[in-house]
Amino acid sequence: MKNILEAPFMVEMIRTTTNMYDHGWDERNGGNISLMLEEREVSEYLDIGNVLRTIPTGFTAPELDGKYFLVTGTGRYFKNVQYKPDANLGVVRLKEQGQQADLLWGYSEDGQFTSEFPAHMMSHVVRMKIDPANRVIMHCHPANLLAMTFVHTLDEREFTRTLWQMCTECVVVFPDGVNVLPWMLCGTNEIGEATAEKMQTARLVVWSLHGIYGAGKDLDETFGLIETAEKAAEIYMKIAHLPRVNTITDEQMHQLEKRFGIKAREGYLD
Ligand code: 13P
Ligand code: ZN
Repeated sequence: MKNILEAPFMVEMIRTTTNMYDHGWDERNGGNISLMLEEREVSEYLDIGNVLRTIPTGFTAPELDGKYFLVTGTGRYFKNVQYKPDANLGVVRLKEQGQQADLLWGYSEDGQFTSEFPAHMMSHVVRMKIDPANRVIMHCHPANLLAMTFVHTLDEREFTRTLWQMCTECVVVFPDGVNVLPWMLCGTNEIGEATAEKMQTARLVVWSLHGIYGAGKDLDETFGLIETAEKAAEIYMKIAHLPRVNTITDEQMHQLEKRFGIKAREGYLD
């Protein structure tokens, strides 16, 4: 059996959590990540018949039975993942209609998966139907996106258009735009269901006054998606209180659609 700490998925997860912490997106225990793994890759590193303990999930998601995930632990600090991966991360396999999760590795200090497990798992169910290559759900608390939800309308079209107008390539990186949830109690099945519903039409879902969710096929891509939206929000927060003299026009965004072969969300450009 190979050393799981040297598995490419583990190395990438440790690098990503560290990088997210360094970006200031994950203060204290803020943020969480789930990465779907293939049984083939897990069994190179773990005896998949050896279940350490079984953890109830509190929701039903039959589509996930037999699926493996590497998931950050609840209450654990992204800052510390690199120093103690086995206490801050866990590998789980879902069963019994998604109601139970077998722990195969990690959460060594009597821990368990993130309190946002419902939002992650329900979003995986939705995104894998839209794009079978989707593997990652990522949540964090980037300051500028969060700040924007205090001062900008939460209307999804308006929120998306503002972000697209802040950097030329935003519309190329997230042509499906950004969906927005109002403030909701975190860590619940309700916010999980609402997030998954919003994931039907966009890979980015803002949680007002809290943070953002991103979905993608790997950690790098999902990080880049959030990074791009956060950069746009940063520019917005720099200019929002100043008179706007120039802007990226809808006509210019249509040129970008042609140049990059993408299609902005229906009805979002004039
Ligand atoms: P966890 O520590 O349970 O992952 O929660 C952090 C968080 O960001 C809640 O939204
Ligand atoms: Zn959070």
